[in-house]
Amino acid sequence: MTVVVTGATGHLGRLIVESLLARGVAAERIVAGGRRLDKLDDLSERGVRVARVDYSDEASLAAAFAAADTLVLVSGSEVGSRIGQHQAAVDAARAAGIRRIVYTSAPHADSTTLVLAPEHIATENLIRESGLAFTFLRNGWYSENYLGALYQAATTGEIVASVGDARVASASRADFAEAAAAVVIGDGHDGAVYELTGDHAWDFAELAEAASEVLGTPVVYRSVTPEEHEAELIAAGLPTGTAGFIVALDGNIRDGLLAHTPGDLARLIGRPTTPLAEALGAARVPAVA
Ligand SMILES: NC(=O)c1ccc[n+]([C@@H]2O[C@H](COP(=O)([O-])OP(=O)(O)OC[C@H]3O[C@@H](n4cnc5c(N)ncnc54)[C@H](OP(=O)(O)O)[C@@H]3O)[C@@H](O)[C@H]2O)c1
Repeated sequence: MTVVVTGATGHLGRLIVESLLARGVAAERIVAGGRRLDKLDDLSERGVRVARVDYSDEASLAAAFAAADTLVLVSGSEVGSRIGQHQAAVDAARAAGIRRIVYTSAPHADSTTLVLAPEHIATENLIRESGLAFTFLRNGWYSENYLGALYQAATTGEIVASVGDARVASASRADFAEAAAAVVIGDGHDGAVYELTGDHAWDFAELAEAASEVLGTPVVYRSVTPEEHEAELIAAGLPTGTAGFIVALDGNIRDGLLAHTPGDLARLIGRPTTPLAEALGAARVPAVA
């Protein structure tokens, strides 16, 4: 088996490569793909093959995917451009003779009103239409998404959100990466669609508690209306579009779209998912960094 991992210059893709290595996949059977090869030097030194992967450069995709049988397509980070980018990757996978695509999608991509879902369901559909085997990993929220809130809380002593008393079943990126490695290596995942979430759906009072624990200083949750939230974000200097996007995501959380706990992730990784405070503590870097 040879597996190509895209987005290996990013957080999740790098962790997927590490998880594959930790699960005993030979380094020379892994191709770590990204636009900036210098970010992959250490993997190269460990024997992992590295390849330039740029979704807008067909030749890079053809070269990176040659002779691989599995593609882990980590969804791109350029929101709004991803359908064309992912289509290019799927077309190249098919041309290269790749057997299966493992794609990192979004929770309940086919039925949700999550603002980020349209590009993910479009990608799932184009992968289905390619005729290749697939596994969809519908990754829920990363616990690390709340690192920014943690850093703010270090100064303000509060976490501000417009989610009301809604809950989020987040998990660490490392948990999601382990699941990806497990489905790459394991049998019986062709055609499977996994809804991957943390085991526990926490509310924002619990997030504030986790922040207190990690920071060693009291933190409270201040619940605001969407209008107040947007006004505060804009007053803090965020562009209007970004503020609106954050408030829309909080609206999705308020609607309970990220609160499901089906247990797929723990089953795939064979252990409980990483608790919120542990994930935030592990990811925390010194504020000066
Ligand atoms: N579930 C969640 O909570 C959550 C949160 C944020 C994002 N996501 C999604 O999950 C993905 C992985 O998360 P992450 O934290 O690892 O994100 P990340 O650190 O930003 O990594 C994104 C990766 O995508 C690559 N990429 C972006 N555009 C590309 C292009 N045009 N051609 C080739 N590669 C491209 C980046 O490569 P470069 O280094 O060359 O830019 C990078 O390696 C994100 O891209 C996003 O789709 C999920």
